[in-house]
Amino acid sequence: MPSIKTTIKAQPTIFVIFGGTGDLNWRKLAPAIYNLYLENSLPENFAIIGTGRTKLSDEEFREKLLEGINKFSRRGKADKKDWAQFCHHVFYQISDVQKEETYTELRGRIEKLAKDWKQEPQVIYYLAVSPNFFPVIARNIASHKLSENVDNTRLVFEKPFGHDLESSKALNQLLGELFDEKQIYRIDHYLGKETVQNIMAFRFANSLFEPLWNRNHIEHVQISVTEQLGVGDRGGYYEGAGALRDMVQNHLLQLLCLIAMEAPTNFGAEEVRNRKVDVLHAMRRFSKEEVRLNAVRGQYGQGWIEGKEVPGYREEEGVDPDSNTETFAAAKFFIDNWRWQGVPFYVRTGKRMHQTASVISIQFKDVPHFIFPPETTETWQQNRLVISIQPEMSIRLQLQAKRPGLEMVLNTVDMVFDYKGTYAFEAPEAYETLLLDTMVGDQTLFMRADQVEAAWDLLMPILNAWQAKKSLNFPNYSADSWGPEVAEALIARDGFHWFSLPLSTKKYTKDGEHI
Ligand code: BG6
Repeated sequence: MPSIKTTIKAQPTIFVIFGGTGDLNWRKLAPAIYNLYLENSLPENFAIIGTGRTKLSDEEFREKLLEGINKFSRRGKADKKDWAQFCHHVFYQISDVQKEETYTELRGRIEKLAKDWKQEPQVIYYLAVSPNFFPVIARNIASHKLSENVDNTRLVFEKPFGHDLESSKALNQLLGELFDEKQIYRIDHYLGKETVQNIMAFRFANSLFEPLWNRNHIEHVQISVTEQLGVGDRGGYYEGAGALRDMVQNHLLQLLCLIAMEAPTNFGAEEVRNRKVDVLHAMRRFSKEEVRLNAVRGQYGQGWIEGKEVPGYREEEGVDPDSNTETFAAAKFFIDNWRWQGVPFYVRTGKRMHQTASVISIQFKDVPHFIFPPETTETWQQNRLVISIQPEMSIRLQLQAKRPGLEMVLNTVDMVFDYKGTYAFEAPEAYETLLLDTMVGDQTLFMRADQVEAAWDLLMPILNAWQAKKSLNFPNYSADSWGPEVAEALIARDGFHWFSLPLSTKKYTKDGEHI
């Protein structure tokens, strides 16, 4: 399949990947950089220096990355000839991030590459390591004068960015003392997804929806990110995180901001991020008592997924058998501004759910007066706009239409824009977009310090309440379900239900059956 050729080219670039032997590099970063290379988006002079504690030769490191690319790249197995050319740009440095020598050695390597290339490269330090190491690496990069050139050095931080409001503030403050904000790239990989970027295009490149995009026409909004996967081998990390920190604080709130933000006056990074942070500031904070009414949690128990028995969360590796960590979270938020006053935004996310799907559903208000025969109300449904982020990539507008026949019967039908049917090429992976943005210095799709803090600030009452009070009924949903009953109750109280996409395309029969 032919793919997008981007014309953006960066200057000579060195990627220094801390955590080079880790999972993120293996699964995401190396395949993304390799794909950028195949797209002809990398400069002629580029290098990847992976660092890690394991002793490896350059050759062994290259082999490991190749294995990852073959396994995880959207293009499938690497072509031998392409790889043979690419791999000469890849190097490994055994190192301990706590030690001075690591940074002196790095400096030597960077200087040598610059000399060979006869050009000063830009250096991107990618911290694909546990957040505990962010401060020590950042301090050392700064004290070894590896980031002095503000225009030519950038640092990329993987989430989680802080563990709560206080720690995120402390980290932001430290980074602010060491670097310029324009050097700091806080990744939320959801922002790099094509369908997520398209929300801005959908809202601000079309005049059709804007007049409807407010409390006068929208009844409620749902943002649902469900996964069939469990925590797998990430139990150790997840125990200290939970669904709220792992998904809501970042991915779900970013989606919410894109849906709720005002139109920016231009597409510049600061303007877009200003409009998004406005939303977070306008979101209503919960009092202690309100948490119970507006936020619910769950933890998965054992169950069966696609014919395979899967363990409960408490049986996963690295997890406390008595764990209080939530693997499901749902909440109802309000945005206190003119556009959204009184419109509930329901968000939910969970692991080991029935379906893997990230879907935003915008439900419009009912017609003001109903003129059809009463029986037509049986299949009646208010208009809904459904933005599917993944795995289905589509936008569907659900309308009422007359079912063909001699009587007046109404059915819900879909007007669909779907990526597969529209584009004859494959979209880049989120990390490809985000790495290229880092190379060309575009921070639009990255989190600014104040956004991260505003998101933590919003969630702190829930985090505090959940930490203070152990959930007595965990596990409270079984694998392959739609989450705990309390989540259904949260939305049912308002007369709604969680929306989920049908697993296959259905058609109506003459009798109105949906098959
Ligand atoms: C990560 C979370 O940020 O996002 C994971 O830490 C989660 O727990 C993942 O599984 C989901 O990302 P995606 O792109 O697969 O939806």
